[in-house]
Amino acid sequence: MNRTRRLRKTENMRRLVRENRLHVDDLIYPIFIEEGENIETEIVSMPGIKRFSLDRISKELDEVVALNIPSVLLFGIPTKKDVIGSETWNDNGIIQKAIRLIKKKYPELVVITDVCFCEYTSHGHCGIIHDNDVDNDATLVNIAKQVISHAKAGADMVAPSGMMDGTIETVRQALDSHGYVNLPIMAYSVKFSSAFYGPFRDAADSAPSFGDRRTYQMDSANRDEAMREATFDDMEGADILMVKPALAYLDIIRDLKTNFDRPIACYNVSGEYAMIKAAAAKGWIDGEKVMLESLLSMKRAGADIIITYFAKEVAKILNRK
Ligand code: PBG
Repeated sequence: MNRTRRLRKTENMRRLVRENRLHVDDLIYPIFIEEGENIETEIVSMPGIKRFSLDRISKELDEVVALNIPSVLLFGIPTKKDVIGSETWNDNGIIQKAIRLIKKKYPELVVITDVCFCEYTSHGHCGIIHDNDVDNDATLVNIAKQVISHAKAGADMVAPSGMMDGTIETVRQALDSHGYVNLPIMAYSVKFSSAFYGPFRDAADSAPSFGDRRTYQMDSANRDEAMREATFDDMEGADILMVKPALAYLDIIRDLKTNFDRPIACYNVSGEYAMIKAAAAKGWIDGEKVMLESLLSMKRAGADIIITYFAKEVAKILNRK
């Protein structure tokens, strides 16, 4: 008889045949940086995750570096918002200051910046509004300004997340023409319009004041279209392709892994984090085990890189082993 149980007999036997494992090298930790001083505010729906002002950020980064997490993804929360999000390309804006400070103090850490407008616009949409919708091409012009400003400040990688068509081509051209030919792009290639972003929008103060993001973010029913999105970004020169959210879209992660020979990242988003934290707090699940199982499922689906609010927590466990 074919007995698959033979190789499951002991933990060491299982270790020998284990196909996928989590590793600290694959983790990116998102960090929210708020303009101002003396800010260290816990985000209610994301226990353990805080918004920091720059003067309070060192403790957090010391921990990230000590845990050997290779990279952080920065989100800025500015005090000044306007209709076009002009603060995003202010060379003295919160993100630009954060990049300079972090690169000076932690030169080895890979600093990635989220390139978007929703935290910087008064209406909370990811670009310039015309006729009640985001104007794709007008927004592209400003995305170019924003990435150059991030590059000048010293970012190691940029991650455009607004889902405008032509973003990667625009960003690549802008970077190249300013001499940043070696600065990589992590594309939010397949970003679905998702209710799993709820806690993030509280955290980053970025909920749209009217309507939703369904004219630019993808419809969660579509798998073929996801391939189309990734194909365009691949052709336009993205260096890393990302799928977001992760847990409800493992099939898409696998599709990208099978079809593209670029590193595939996934974003284990705020709602996925909040669900586990909330159920664990109620004693309804074993939070640590469910966290590990969820993150491992992303690796098994084909993710090479996982962006996750669990990064510090999982790194502690992995470093123990
Ligand atoms: C947009 C952006 C969002 C997230 C990352 N970048 C929110 C959105 O599209 O509304 C969500 C991240 C998360 O939920 O953890 N700048």
